[in-house]
Amino acid sequence: MKLNKILALALLLVVSGSASALTIVGSNHDLSSTNTDPAAGLHLEGICVYCHSPHNAVVGAAPLWNRTTYTASYTMYDSDTIDMTIQSAPDPYSAACLSCHDGVQALDSLVNLPYLYQTAQTGNFISWGLVGEDLSNDHPISVVYNPASDAGFDTQANAEADGMVFFTGTGSNQVECATCHQVHDNEHGRFLRVANDASSLCLACHIK
Ligand code: HEC
Ligand code: HEC
Ligand code: HEC
Ligand code: HEC
Repeated sequence: MKLNKILALALLLVVSGSASALTIVGSNHDLSSTNTDPAAGLHLEGICVYCHSPHNAVVGAAPLWNRTTYTASYTMYDSDTIDMTIQSAPDPYSAACLSCHDGVQALDSLVNLPYLYQTAQTGNFISWGLVGEDLSNDHPISVVYNPASDAGFDTQANAEADGMVFFTGTGSNQVECATCHQVHDNEHGRFLRVANDASSLCLACHIK
């Protein structure tokens, strides 16, 4: 084998190694029946099924989404010092989280149940992770990130370099729940995309 091929293979191994570092297994987002710690386990065996479906998924939601989402009843954040546009309802990437975290829908209420479980089993609701339908007391979401309108904000490119991810909107420029949170990985606690030591997550966007 040529040296450059060996190097390319080695690089591939490194890349795939780091990709497998996500740790949803055993986390609070692992609702599979095999997860007994922390007592999050429900009745289905799978992990992904509680959020994703390989077929007949919900269109216009988060990728291959397996849960009903709705946007009607939310109260969005507002204040006198807001300079950017906040949408009148949560956009799909936040509605996805709220399909559990608003406490309205049962965790195990799915669009496509796996083959062996054709009977819907519902009744398990979010508990301490409740965000609710009143989002006026939560950090703004579905807000169009426009640092040009406020000197207190860093550029989107710098925020992305610090680990933030933007969704939807023209040029994928909206702050959604998954901007700050990595739903599949609890390495930093609270499913945060980066550790928030010394408010480093906040300072990825805010210049204070
Ligand atoms: C608790 C809900 C939840 C569970 C469980 C879950 N996901 Fe996701 N997933 C999401 C949400 C919300 C998004 C969109 C936000 C984002 O991209 O970070 C997403 C995005 C994705 C994406 C596209 C973006 C990316 O990160 O590559 C893939 C692929 C994915 N999920 C695969 C999986 C697989 C495979 C599993 C099971 C091992 C799984 N997910 C379990 C909620 C979940
Ligand atoms: C399938 C339902 C479901 C979806 C969808 C979901 N979650 Fe959760 N999440 C849970 C459950 C269950 C817990 C555990 C807390 C509880 O039971 O009240 C939790 C816990 C959390 C926690 C606290 C974790 C910890 O251990 O400290 C955060 C943060 C969180 N979720 C954020 C999100 C975000 C952001 C999204 C979307 C990107 C999302 N969740 C989507 C069900 C869900
Ligand atoms: C601007 C960043 C940011 C956005 C946007 C955001 N969160 Fe969080 N979230 C955090 C941080 C930081 C924490 C950890 C707070 C702590 O540890 O005290 C947190 C904690 C949580 C928790 C744990 C329980 C709690 O109250 O501390 C849940 C559940 C949660 N977020 C869900 C969501 C959902 C759902 C959305 C979208 C509606 C969302 N978050 C949007 C930054 C964010
Ligand atoms: C991904 C970028 C981003 C991150 C990370 C972020 N914010 Fe924000 N924050 C925003 C945007 C955008 C707004 C809306 C600004 C506007 O319209 O003026 C906002 C608004 C706020 C507001 C309300 C300002 C007002 O005028 O009412 C506060 C307070 C705030 N953020 C605090 C925090 C804290 C604390 C953290 C860390 C836990 C954090 N933010 C993380 C982007 C971010």
